[in-house]
Amino acid sequence: MAEITFSKDKKLIFSAIQPTGTFTLGNYLGAVKNWGPLQEEFNCIYAVADLHSITVKQDPVKLRQNSLQAYALMMACGLAPERSILFFQSHNRHHAELSWVLSCSTQFGELSRMTQFKDKSQKHADNINAGLFTYPVLMAADILLYNADFVPIGADQKQHLELARNIAQRFNQRYGDFFTLPDPYIPKVGAKVMSLQEPTKKMSKSDENPNACILILDEKDAIIRKFKRAVTDSDTEVRYAEGKDGINNLMTIYSIVTGRSFEEIEKDFSGKGYGDFKLAVGEAVADHLEPVRTEFSRLINDKAYLKKCYTEGAEKAMMISQRNLSKVYRKVGFVDAR
Ligand code: TRP
Repeated sequence: MAEITFSKDKKLIFSAIQPTGTFTLGNYLGAVKNWGPLQEEFNCIYAVADLHSITVKQDPVKLRQNSLQAYALMMACGLAPERSILFFQSHNRHHAELSWVLSCSTQFGELSRMTQFKDKSQKHADNINAGLFTYPVLMAADILLYNADFVPIGADQKQHLELARNIAQRFNQRYGDFFTLPDPYIPKVGAKVMSLQEPTKKMSKSDENPNACILILDEKDAIIRKFKRAVTDSDTEVRYAEGKDGINNLMTIYSIVTGRSFEEIEKDFSGKGYGDFKLAVGEAVADHLEPVRTEFSRLINDKAYLKKCYTEGAEKAMMISQRNLSKVYRKVGFVDAR
């Protein structure tokens, strides 16, 4: 039987990632890189949000592949199955069960106001399904099921977390205090990485130009090639300054992966051209990501080990959520099942 190794005096973090393949360098430097160290300070529960993913059309074969990859990637990025609870959302049925209960404490009007719902129904006008609409309720269930204290999220999920708090508050008022109100976890150092082709825009994997975005599993050659093609300006000096968005972005990236300050970088590259600098950034980034790529390929080729990790992860998750869900069922007035 799997055993939970959480410490009583640590706060709990819950987060989930969609199984959409991979992370960008922006996701990595802005958030994912902090996952490993976060385990020192917090008890962490991380899920692959496969239930959420089918709110848009998925190819089943691809989805299974992407889900396993997302799981291996969480581990390759530093989340340790011995310390944290890592599992697939669909392996713990309590998420869907709590989601139903919470949906009865959520108003149609508030779900209609979710900007992601509005965006996605425009983008997928032929498939505005009920799951797309109730997506934020399932997300609230993910978080509240474990009474998480903090949720690390990007700006796009802030409104959903706000809704989760409102649902929790409403439930607590109606049935008596039970749910912890989750707060967003804002990382201390968060870098914003911009597109390599349009450096005033955030780096995004949905960018049409593949040179705009570094994916963390990109091969070294591809990484260097993309940095060589990065858009800069007509100046020639490697210097952080207003209006030099491309160079500023490259300097930011280089500074994070090498630990060099902007002044040091300016000194190191004084008298050298943009070409030399771009190559140096490309190499530094490729070296920085190398251990992740290596660990990922080791894990994805060891399906038996992955399976052991996610099976135990789901067992541990369910030990916690079973107790909470039973309490919720009691509070709303269902007859005890045993
Ligand atoms: N909706 C989140 C996203 O698209 C993923 C997610 C699902 C999530 N459940 C969650 C994030 C609970 C934080 C907490 O990124």
